Amino acid sequence: MEKKRVYSGIRATGRFHLGNYFGAVKGMLELQDKYDCVFSVVDLHAITTPYDPKALRENVRDVILDYLAAGLDPEKCLIEIQSLVPEHTELAYLLSTIYPVARLEDLPTYKDKKAQYPKYVNMGLLYYPVLMAADILLYKAEFVPIGKDQEPHLEVTREIARKFNNMFGDTFAEPQSFKTDGEYVPSLTGEGKMSKTEAGSYILLTDSLDEIKRKLASVPTDSGEIGGEVPKSGGVAVLFELLKLFEREDLYKKYEKDYMDKKIRYSEMKEELANIIYEALSPIQKKREEIKRSFDLDNMVVEHTKICREIAATTLLDAKQKMGLV
Ligand code: TYM
Repeated sequence: MEKKRVYSGIRATGRFHLGNYFGAVKGMLELQDKYDCVFSVVDLHAITTPYDPKALRENVRDVILDYLAAGLDPEKCLIEIQSLVPEHTELAYLLSTIYPVARLEDLPTYKDKKAQYPKYVNMGLLYYPVLMAADILLYKAEFVPIGKDQEPHLEVTREIARKFNNMFGDTFAEPQSFKTDGEYVPSLTGEGKMSKTEAGSYILLTDSLDEIKRKLASVPTDSGEIGGEVPKSGGVAVLFELLKLFEREDLYKKYEKDYMDKKIRYSEMKEELANIIYEALSPIQKKREEIKRSFDLDNMVVEHTKICREIAATTLLDAKQKMGLV
């Protein structure tokens, strides 16, 4: 029996932060041992918001390096650069013909990006979820490790799969998201989620101890004399959430007690947290340097692209036949 397929992608907009790691990469690591996985550097999605063309190739490389450093094993999973597999855009076009524009205009992710970049509201931005649906359906993936923010896009993917199957006959499975404990990593600012496009909101996997300390130092806290339950939102909640994500229940309990007793010292908590985070990240950073020095990325990309294109071509032909194009 064939193994089920898994697909996920990360935009080529910079290095991974803790949100990418806990929300998506941890899920990828868990699934790469059990299923046929394709993990992508989605460069075509990265160009829908303002970007520097000169930095794009380097950003793509950074994502591959981050994937491998975090533990993706190129012997176990396929690593794809989206734009090298042109079947993505072809399938996306086909799928766009069966999906209503009004639904896309209504998506919270589209509205957020419109508000963030009012002078950069382009067709690609509206089309974004259709391309994402094509990414997943091209590989007939059943599981998609993603953070909570991507859930509306997965819903679109399922709607498209369902509609395609109804109109043209059974073709695509309806994919499910694969969630981790870190499906929503909050921003260090205490408001919203950790995000690459919001300076001051994130810790990168490649940050030094000093950088982590500096970033944690600016997390807003309170007087430390409030007492009662630990807050569920804001900067203090972020510090507690990070202790949880880095599996330090012991310290969580200790600081929770301090909070309740109105004697919490945030400077001490932040110092301890910075050391914990750095300790967890430093093996990833060392591995990244090693891969950068000795691993033939270009060769891996050529080999993996070849296999990806074979799978992609089969699905595309199937879709075109069902639609009466060939
Ligand atoms: P992107 O590049 O914004 O984020 C990559 C992954 O990281 C997750 N993530 C988070 N998870 C938890 N907390 C956070 N603060 C946080 N920030 C980011 C995202 O949920 C995502 O899983 N549209 C996608 C890329 C994409 C894709 C796909 C994903 C394109 N095609 C097909 C899956 C399948 C995106 O913008 O991810």
